[in-house]
Amino acid sequence: MGLIRDLIHAGGTGGLSWHVQAFHARKRWQPTLQLIDQFLAQVNPKSDHLLLIGGSAGWMMPPNWLARFKRIDAYDIDPLAPWLFDGQHGKRLKTQGIQVQHHRQDALAALPEILKEHPQACVWFDNVLGQHRFRVRDEARVEHELAQLKTTLKGRHWGSLHDVWSGPTDGRLLPAGLNVWSHHVMAKQGLEPAFSQKLLASVGAKDAWHDHLTSHVFAHNTHTTWMPWAFKPNYWHWLQAGWVSA
Ligand SMILES: C[S@@+](CC[C@H](N)C(=O)[O-])C[C@H]1O[C@@H](n2cnc3c(N)ncnc32)[C@H](O)[C@@H]1O
Repeated sequence: MGLIRDLIHAGGTGGLSWHVQAFHARKRWQPTLQLIDQFLAQVNPKSDHLLLIGGSAGWMMPPNWLARFKRIDAYDIDPLAPWLFDGQHGKRLKTQGIQVQHHRQDALAALPEILKEHPQACVWFDNVLGQHRFRVRDEARVEHELAQLKTTLKGRHWGSLHDVWSGPTDGRLLPAGLNVWSHHVMAKQGLEPAFSQKLLASVGAKDAWHDHLTSHVFAHNTHTTWMPWAFKPNYWHWLQAGWVSA
């Protein structure tokens, strides 16, 4: 029973329902993938070993980014993740001689041990931190744990792409001229109400939006890129990406 529940939901943040959704939404998500690709292309990881946290099947993962490493340790709680990730990226990575090791593990709970085990690796949280609040229901604890990550990661090269808000929209489409949609600001500016109002208005936000409690993942002086994600035609997310060089 436990395994079936895990296959379907993977702790409420992944699993079969996520993969079915991602498969059907590939075309709608393409503009956001382009923005992720652009963001990661200007990151300069100082290690050829990546700890990929919440990589799932890599539906939104640019292959060029993965190809910059010699070794990737991928952590996910979803039992389907290794199989589907290898299906999408395995052949190309193998041809390029890149070694991939999958771990089925709660990588947020075990982060200090994982970092100790791989002292030279850099870390990418792959659209996973915004899900923490759905696994841990205590809001104060979630906010505290997410804000604490930068201390746990001190001395590392690390980055994250995560949901900041999500909610219903008026159903407009993401146009091809994408660069008007992404915003480059310091993390501190992202906390200003005028900034959030501008972003929400630009996607036709309606009703109440969800706060994913990730606003303090980055220190105030981190350069961040914000990008919209048409998760469903009438339900969008604003994602924030940043990279921290130790
Ligand atoms: C939104 S999906 C990520 C999508 C992925 N980046 C992609 O491109 O397909 C979030 C993933 O994080 C995983 N996850 C959630 N909490 C986790 C945790 N504490 N440790 C490891 N993986 C986790 C889920 O199982 C899910 O696969």
